[in-house]
Amino acid sequence: MQQDSNRTPRKILITGGAGFIGSNFVHHWCKSYPSDRVVVLDALTYAGNKLNLASLESNPNLKFVQGDICDRTLVDNLLESEDLDTVAHFAAESHVDRSILGPGAFVQTNVVGTFTLLEAFRQRWNKREQPQSDCFLHVSTDEVYGSLEADDPAFTETTPYTPNSPYSASKAGSDHLARAYFHTYGMPTIITNCSNNYGPYHFPEKLIPLMCINILLGKPLPVYGDGQNIRDWLFVEDHCRALDIVIHRGKPGETYNVGGNNEVKNIDLVKQLCELMDELAPDLPVRPAKKLITFVKDRAGHDRRYAIDASKIKRELGWTPQETVAGGLRRTVEWYLANRDWWQPLLSDEYKSYYQKVYSK
Ligand code: NAD
Ligand code: DAU
Repeated sequence: MQQDSNRTPRKILITGGAGFIGSNFVHHWCKSYPSDRVVVLDALTYAGNKLNLASLESNPNLKFVQGDICDRTLVDNLLESEDLDTVAHFAAESHVDRSILGPGAFVQTNVVGTFTLLEAFRQRWNKREQPQSDCFLHVSTDEVYGSLEADDPAFTETTPYTPNSPYSASKAGSDHLARAYFHTYGMPTIITNCSNNYGPYHFPEKLIPLMCINILLGKPLPVYGDGQNIRDWLFVEDHCRALDIVIHRGKPGETYNVGGNNEVKNIDLVKQLCELMDELAPDLPVRPAKKLITFVKDRAGHDRRYAIDASKIKRELGWTPQETVAGGLRRTVEWYLANRDWWQPLLSDEYKSYYQKVYSK
């Protein structure tokens, strides 16, 4: 990204910065703005991993704090002691299947946690005399818009909210709070609603890493239902670039949809991953990998199709995705092949017990 020589440095709090998208964003920000102060707040739940930030350990401008976004005292102290002017809020419980098994943690982190951050930021922003250049970026999802039929137009920023899972309902609740803080207090919040991300550091429970890892282990590839559900895939680096532009040039109070313009049926995506693995992995236990594809019981309330209309962010802020699905999937498969040391320890007893609960149905 081209550096703006007149840019004012920011002091940014990145919540959930040890998770999948958050850690990619921390890498992006530290590389793009090496003089900025970056504070990462992450509870290191099962989905958080400090190793995602290992290569930044010696960066003197980066501080990592292990803690909960629901801890108001901790958040107040961080905002004040570091004089933070920007929040990029990623921290969340993010997996739909876990929200079906246990919604409580989703309401706590996604709703109460976001509320706690908004309140803390409001107090700090008032003390800082309400600069409009401060920014509270709330990173959200396209799932709040519900499910599309095959011929429906893609979600726009004005599509009514119709969340269908405890996960998306909790994200919808947090979006409404972020929006209300602009409307009521004038606080400079911005919301982004993004489609399915993929790329490095993606936790093994999600579709793409799960399939990559199971192919490498010669385990069945569990495709829910008829495999015809559609997702709109976006390479995570493109998402990070979009969020960067929104923080710098987005309009307070606005919502921006972010999407890859890459709608793919689940079964086709899994077949593409199988072909890539056949080509790139010399030591597969089962070959061709597609022999492992197994249709399993559908996810409860499974949304059929998501598709994002990202014309607003293109028109107003000049962002478009740069990576193709073919290129991004190849990079992702190569990453999982080269980083077995990263994902093998994540297949812990907790993960195995979760896997058993979801896939033994
Ligand atoms: P993730 O599950 O990989 O990471 C979440 C991170 O938040 C983890 O590091 C975890 O330790 C941390 N965390 C959880 N609860 C916390 C708490 N109470 N306090 C502090 N930290 C806590 O999630 P992700 O896939 O990187 O998603 C990041 C954000 O982007 C989420 O808000 C999600 O809703 C949104 N989003 C994700 C996608 C996607 O495809 N993954 C797409 C659109 C939007
Ligand atoms: O759309 C954005 C959302 O994308 C984010 O808000 C969520 O945080 C993120 O987890 C993701 O949600 P999905 O439910 O779409 O992603 P997941 O990887 O869990 O599943 C993708 C599709 O693949 C979905 O239709 C369900 C299906 N699936 C998933 C798994 C884990 C399978 O068929 N088999 C599986 O084993």
